[in-house]
Amino acid sequence: MDQTTVAVGSDHAGPEFKDQLIAYLRQKGFAALDFGIPAGTERANYPDVARKVAEAVARGEAQFGILICGTGLGMAMVANKTPGVRAAPCVNEFMAEMARAHNDANVLALGVRVIGPGLAHAIVDRFLSVSFAGGRHAERLALFS
Ligand code: RB5
Repeated sequence: MDQTTVAVGSDHAGPEFKDQLIAYLRQKGFAALDFGIPAGTERANYPDVARKVAEAVARGEAQFGILICGTGLGMAMVANKTPGVRAAPCVNEFMAEMARAHNDANVLALGVRVIGPGLAHAIVDRFLSVSFAGGRHAERLALFS
């Protein structure tokens, strides 16, 4: 079976969490692409990181993206400007499940100042394991543009 590739990026709010998440994903059998920023970097502008990850997903280099910032909000706002990307900020597993099943989200945005690492991993697990339900939800996605 082909390996699922996940593009991951963080601003200065969570590079250490991003590095741990990449290790977690690899241990679970995913390929992970690191779009920075490196741990120890004092400051980064989240739009720069979000755009890089979103474009990697839009180009098909990664099936999914995970964006990490303080709240998950700014990253999702920027990523959603890239055509083909549907980014969802999620704070619990139900949101992650619905983001995949109903919205076919391909980018997950996490806020490391909102949730802890245990919940974040559970959200990631749910996001990456649930399939799009299609049917009426596909009809609704077709109405996006
Ligand atoms: C950076 O301080 C913070 O604004 C950013 O990580 C994010 O929460 C923006 O949405």
